[in-house]
Amino acid sequence: MGKYVLGIESSCDDTGVAIIRDDGHICANMLASQYVEHEEFGGVVPEIAARAHLEQMDRLIIAAMKEADLDFKDLSAIAATCGPGLIGGVMVGMMAGKAIAAAHDLPFIAVNHLEAHLLTARLTNTVEMPYLCLLVSGGHTQILVAEDIDRYKRFGTTLDDALGEAFDKTAKMMGLPYPGGPHMQKLAQDYQARCAKNGQDPNAIIAKYDLPLPLTHQKNLDFSFSGLKTAMRKHIDAIDSDIIEQHDAEELAYAFHQAVIKVLEKKLTRAIAMFKESYGDTLDAQNITPSLVVAGGVAANSYIRAALEDLTAAHNMTLIAPPVKLCSDNGAMIAWAGIERFKRGLINELDFAARPRWPLDPDAEKRIGAGVKA
Ligand code: KG4
Ligand code: ZN
Repeated sequence: MGKYVLGIESSCDDTGVAIIRDDGHICANMLASQYVEHEEFGGVVPEIAARAHLEQMDRLIIAAMKEADLDFKDLSAIAATCGPGLIGGVMVGMMAGKAIAAAHDLPFIAVNHLEAHLLTARLTNTVEMPYLCLLVSGGHTQILVAEDIDRYKRFGTTLDDALGEAFDKTAKMMGLPYPGGPHMQKLAQDYQARCAKNGQDPNAIIAKYDLPLPLTHQKNLDFSFSGLKTAMRKHIDAIDSDIIEQHDAEELAYAFHQAVIKVLEKKLTRAIAMFKESYGDTLDAQNITPSLVVAGGVAANSYIRAALEDLTAAHNMTLIAPPVKLCSDNGAMIAWAGIERFKRGLINELDFAARPRWPLDPDAEKRIGAGVKA
């Protein structure tokens, strides 16, 4: 019989509970999202999130155990997100995990939510370390190298908003529901379809909006999205009506996507060069195909996926983009990180403290900015 790990996620606005076998088989993967609770506020309200996690947690754990047809005594370990994230929510999942571990005398594994995002690619694909990662979510935007389990090198991070946050805030300005990322994508696709029907070049509007491409002139691998958001605000404010017409919204969403893609392409082109320079010998020696792993909720974006596909192909790299369901926050990624750590004997004491901030690369230079939560 294989080993089974129960994983619990509650660091933002998704309550996730999953059970995974050590060969990667997902026995159960339960998710309760809090879109409705946060929608009227246009963003995640920490207090409401923590309460909602508490309301869902027991139900999801029981449902996952039932679905997997396992008893707690059949589990090998309990893994829970212990940070980074909204501390109230993190505590709910972490304490539930610790309680089960204590009651059933099971090892407890404290999972870093970011590491779990980066390891998801190894659940869905065969990918050897080191690999280059682009982590783009509602709370984080980072370029990292996964050198080994528990060992990451940060190449760059956002100095202000995370990319998902930029999508969500821009969407909010345009009167779209939370979370705005998928709605922005839909608008851009509608615009493109309209152009195709009318025989127009969709890229013609890029010059019309002339959006900034923050920090792309700098050699570092850091991001900044607040200027892009402000530029979008100006365009939205310039529209002489309370409600943005559909065609304006579609154009703006498309222009926004094109700016984001340009920024990602520029930074990743440099990151790929750096990755090959620093890890080329290791990759060659171990005969590993260089890979770019994309993770986090924004990795669901079809424009970003297509751009990364082209970019990696041009650099003889493989793009690994896990299925959308596993890119955004979920319990399976925590259970899988638990399995990876359990296999290495990386278990924790029950007094492990939750960490609102928990950088994957403790040696990376500190960056001051609202969006830098790691
Ligand atoms: O990883 P995730 O589920 O939660 C965090 O850890 O933040 O990411 C959520 C973020 C939200 O900002 C959401 O708008 C964004 O991912 N997102 C998208 C798309 N789907 C989700 N952004 C752009 N395009 C999408 N299709
Ligand atoms: Zn996340």
